[in-house]
Amino acid sequence: MTGNQMLETWKSVCDTGELEDGESLTVAPGTIPGVDEPVALYRVDGEFFATSDTCTHEKWSLGEEGELEGHEVVCTLHNARFDVRDGRPLCFPAVLGLRRYPTRVAEGQVYVGPEEAGSDD
Ligand code: FES
Repeated sequence: MTGNQMLETWKSVCDTGELEDGESLTVAPGTIPGVDEPVALYRVDGEFFATSDTCTHEKWSLGEEGELEGHEVVCTLHNARFDVRDGRPLCFPAVLGLRRYPTRVAEGQVYVGPEEAGSDD
């Protein structure tokens, strides 16, 4: 990917100071070019991770309603857990993983890019 392609496909979604460790937010569909679903952004130990926002069990926002416990996000509707680093489900009732999106920090902004190859498997 060239630098210009990165500029076209990655999107600044918030200031780094907007989230404290253990907090998350939801990025609206369409904010990231080519991504038509809401995306959850999490901050854990100063690092940012992004996955699809909607729990794969039923429709529930992980970015707005989920609770972070270390690198795990807990869906507060039926207590499924996912690893925010790779989106994999960690316990029932979720059996499907979340799509994952790459993040990077530059000049005080958090950027999220298009879906990473190999996610959602
Ligand atoms: S909707 Fe998330 S566990 Fe059921």
